[in-house]
Amino acid sequence: MNRIFVFVPGILATLLGLAVPVLKGQAQQQPRRAEASPAGNIENGKKQFKTHGCASCHSYSGQGGAGARLAQNPITLQAFVNYVRKPKGSMPPFGNQVTETELADIYAFLKSVPPSPDPKSIPLLNQID
Ligand code: HEC
Repeated sequence: MNRIFVFVPGILATLLGLAVPVLKGQAQQQPRRAEASPAGNIENGKKQFKTHGCASCHSYSGQGGAGARLAQNPITLQAFVNYVRKPKGSMPPFGNQVTETELADIYAFLKSVPPSPDPKSIPLLNQID
């Protein structure tokens, strides 16, 4: 009868010991810039950016294409949300098709995209006369 009371906490302690390194590993995989925007879920933002078709004009990491460059764009989250709901230029208005949370996630994703390297630091590009 007494054995079960020793056994169960033993299992729990083992499981906890296994879970802690796994959780730590996940935390370390987060991109470095994630701290800058703790409100958004970067993974979901990346997904929503494709699902809502933003990527078709702004490209997959928001580098720009038919649409403006969005990665490393210093506009505020509020300005970002307002623009997507009611753009001023040729971008189609999204109104309420994209939720506030999805937009916060997309914003966090765009913030997490690392800056492009300086072209001067790429040897091949400097070999062109
Ligand atoms: C059909 C092409 C197209 C799609 C789809 C699109 N955009 Fe755009 N977007 C543009 C263009 C073009 C601009 C440049 C300004 C303008 O003409 O509106 C722009 C500008 C923006 C800006 C303003 C950037 C700035 O610095 O002022 C934001 C923010 C933005 N887009 C976010 C999004 C998001 C988020 C989505 C998906 C929900 C999206 N866009 C989907 C074409 C598009």
